[in-house]
Amino acid sequence: MSSLYCISLADVEAAQSHLHGLIHLVPLDQLAGRRLFFKCELFQKTGSFKIHGALNAVRSLALAAPGNREQPKAIVTHSSGNHGQALAFAAKLEGIPAHIVVPCTALLCKKAAICSYGARLVPCEPTDKSRAEVAAQTVQEKEGVMVHSSRDPSVIAGQGTIALEVLQQVPQVNAPVVPVGGGGMVAGIAVAAKALRPDVRVYAAEPCNADDNYRSKVTGELTPNLHPPGTIADSVKTNIGPNTWPIIKDLVDDVLTVSEKEIKQTTQLVWERVKLLIEPTAGVGVAAVLSKQFQSVSQEVKKICIVLCGGNVDLDSLAWLNPPGKEAN
Ligand SMILES: Cc1ncc(COP(=O)(O)O)c(C=O)c1O
Repeated sequence: MSSLYCISLADVEAAQSHLHGLIHLVPLDQLAGRRLFFKCELFQKTGSFKIHGALNAVRSLALAAPGNREQPKAIVTHSSGNHGQALAFAAKLEGIPAHIVVPCTALLCKKAAICSYGARLVPCEPTDKSRAEVAAQTVQEKEGVMVHSSRDPSVIAGQGTIALEVLQQVPQVNAPVVPVGGGGMVAGIAVAAKALRPDVRVYAAEPCNADDNYRSKVTGELTPNLHPPGTIADSVKTNIGPNTWPIIKDLVDDVLTVSEKEIKQTTQLVWERVKLLIEPTAGVGVAAVLSKQFQSVSQEVKKICIVLCGGNVDLDSLAWLNPPGKEAN
């Protein structure tokens, strides 16, 4: 089955050996209800799950260049921030310069973190077109290698190691719920989880305002967002792409969509009740499971693992917690 796609379980297992000892095995926490487990990638190195894919990609490039003779001169990507941070960190570990193309609207905390890991920030406009063009130009100028945040097979395989960890940590989990932007995380998780446990149901979660994955599943065709989406979940504004779509089409069981109101309320709920400082994108997965739509999911789906995918929050930009008219207590 997996040979159909750009990665297989063997690639995910190889990624796991590349990552061994270099990143944290983050714990799963448990909440009541239909049994919920949280895979707390907000505690992960660089503050999000992205290090799995970035590190596998950079290590794979380094291992393919024996004796450092043909090491890439530079690593380049475009990113709203989390993949950029992870790639900057991974490139620094291998001693390779990193150039990260970041939309001018990206969160300040994410831009600052990219710089703190020693990478160079390259600004661009907040559109897919500008991101791709500026990154291509940077690759040419720096004679670099592009590591795309969700199209690169080694990134997708690295994200798949999250499924290996979850199934090892809590073997009884029968449904991962995964926020989706470019789809690298859900595709990697789906390939690994379905290969090991075909009974597992894989759910994607995305904002209604950035629902290209949902619309693609409904139409059966890759259907990108026509305009840059407006959502508080800043990490999932990107579209699923040519490598992730075939996997998502075949292996993701359902796509759950949530409103901006649900994302905000749920993010606040997790902060206040669970005491975990997730970013709103991680709130997308929790909101999906707490939604009315999820109540119609079969009761056989009993043990759910929500990937709390990141915790990089710009505390200075929390005006949405106190909109005009909301009384302070
Ligand atoms: C915190 C967080 N969650 C989810 C995603 C979506 O991941 P993917 O693009 O692999 O679907 C991203 C992507 O940047 C992210 O940073």
